[in-house]
Amino acid sequence: MRLSEDYVEKSFYKNKDYYELMERGYNAAKGSLTIEPTTKELIFRALKSLKRGAGVLEMGCGVGNNVRWLAERFPEVKFLGSDISEIGISYALRKINGLKNLDFVVDDIQNSNLKNGEFSLIISQSVLEHLTDYRKALRECSRLLDNNGKIVIRIGNGGRTGAGLFGFLKDFAKYMLRINHSKNLNPTFVIDKEDFDGRRRQHRKNFDICRIPSDVLVRDLQKTGFVINFFSTYKELSRFTERYKTGAALKKKLIDLYVNTGIFPFNHMGRVTILSASKQVL
Ligand SMILES: C[S@@+](CC[C@H](N)C(=O)[O-])C[C@H]1O[C@@H](n2cnc3c(N)ncnc32)[C@H](O)[C@@H]1O
Repeated sequence: MRLSEDYVEKSFYKNKDYYELMERGYNAAKGSLTIEPTTKELIFRALKSLKRGAGVLEMGCGVGNNVRWLAERFPEVKFLGSDISEIGISYALRKINGLKNLDFVVDDIQNSNLKNGEFSLIISQSVLEHLTDYRKALRECSRLLDNNGKIVIRIGNGGRTGAGLFGFLKDFAKYMLRINHSKNLNPTFVIDKEDFDGRRRQHRKNFDICRIPSDVLVRDLQKTGFVINFFSTYKELSRFTERYKTGAALKKKLIDLYVNTGIFPFNHMGRVTILSASKQVL
């Protein structure tokens, strides 16, 4: 099933409730920042390695809180937040707070109007799973990045698809047989405004357009010419604390090792996928 662009536009990008809730609701906690520790660490690491004046894009920045928070902390880097939604960007523009290194633009990352090689870093936090064609967006990201450009990606609905040992074996078999695919979903784009607490779950169920297993994302990035630098998935992840279970550090190291050696069997460890990749210089 493929959603029509018209339907998505009307019910998603023009859905005022969605952006208002992003602003007042799940983004409002913790000073509006929704970046998890691992994602933050990857972004900070990448930002610290950038030259003065380098360009950074947060694609699908929503109401712009994350990118503004980063712009306040890295004044020597030029940040641009882009989003397909005029409503989202209108919220973002209201709070630039005189920051000289921050701007926002309405832009579709699947068909971007931005220039080739304009950015040294692209941040994609909780965006790919909301796109009608995320592979097209990955190709656009590669075009927008300069030769040593990096991308930091976080998606919230991939990873392991089944629970327990059986689930693990099923996912493992799928991986070995290369029959794991991203799947189109059928979101409703309806938000219950009264339900502040249930909102995160509502968000996933109602606004995710596709489900992208982590190994599929890695393969797609590699096909698009990216080299994976860091990869991680989590079974349980609370947005701000990322409660790791004992042994998680070792697991993380093992997963990294597997990804980098290209064997990559234990790829379905959790729902949330966080990774960083570099554009391969040809
Ligand atoms: C879950 S929100 C994430 C917002 C922000 N990155 C954050 O972490 O708070 C997903 C965002 O992707 C945007 N989006 C959806 N399709 C897009 C597209 N084709 N191009 C750019 N942005 C898009 C939506 O408008 C929405 O603001």
